[in-house]
Amino acid sequence: MVNNHLYGVIGQPVAHSLSPIMFNAAFAASGYNAHFSAFAVDDLGAAIAGIRALGIAGASVTLPHKTEVIKYLDWVDEEALEIAAVNTIVNRQGQLCGYNTDVAGAMNALLSKTGLSGRRVLILGAGGAARALVYGAVKAGAQVVVANRTPERGQALAAEFGARFLNRSEWADFSPEILVNSTSVGMTPEVDSMPLPETFLTPAMVVMDIVYNPLQTRLLQVAEKCGAQTIAGLEMFVGQGVLQFELWTGKKAPLEVMLQTVLTCLQRGE
Ligand code: ATR
Repeated sequence: MVNNHLYGVIGQPVAHSLSPIMFNAAFAASGYNAHFSAFAVDDLGAAIAGIRALGIAGASVTLPHKTEVIKYLDWVDEEALEIAAVNTIVNRQGQLCGYNTDVAGAMNALLSKTGLSGRRVLILGAGGAARALVYGAVKAGAQVVVANRTPERGQALAAEFGARFLNRSEWADFSPEILVNSTSVGMTPEVDSMPLPETFLTPAMVVMDIVYNPLQTRLLQVAEKCGAQTIAGLEMFVGQGVLQFELWTGKKAPLEVMLQTVLTCLQRGE
């Protein structure tokens, strides 16, 4: 039985998660009488049993639990199964249903600035975030190349989803139209780092960074200065949250409120 409107993020760590502030603002703005908390979870099985026992209405799932959570759920969406990662749980009358909104959140952010079908896309990284991006971009019909510091991880990811892996010396020949940084390079406190040389960027490129702290990474600053179109990591973060809100409430999410809330929070350095 779902007997309340309590939601939460389960992960470890979650102390700095922006989800509670973003969703509580969204609930308030929509007049939805609900609350969102952060739960630091080590024992995932016990946490899922807790969701069932307490009738918690829904949860956001973050690192390191996105894959392991699948085995505890009653039903999992096909796309989430394909990338083997669930970031959203919806409690439907006691049935725990799993979804992945990271893929659509990332693709919507890209599609707001560029087409994807047939485009040459270079994705840097091979972690969980890169997984969602590679899967989504391949599915959208892009020509996807993966690049990663540890080649074996990059090769495995590319092979899994039908993308190509290239070494650094081969990137320029690929001449990407879209570049996505899905590594942690450039994240606070290493704000002067860039995942690739400045000279690689061209004005014709669309450059997206999944890093949203700082709001404008060095990569995005340099890309903008060079005349490229840029997409900030915050758009992707809020985009996946908008889709979570809609799965939980069945209502249209207050996108602007969510964006401004998170923006204000990051600008204050919270
Ligand atoms: P997540 O699941 O959040 O994406 P992750 O699995 O730790 O996190 O992946 C982080 C990505 O950033 C990886 O692709 C990592 O490269 P490796 O596979 O070689 O570890 C990449 N990364 C992190 N720090 C990096 C650095 N200083 N230079 C280059 N790549 C880096």
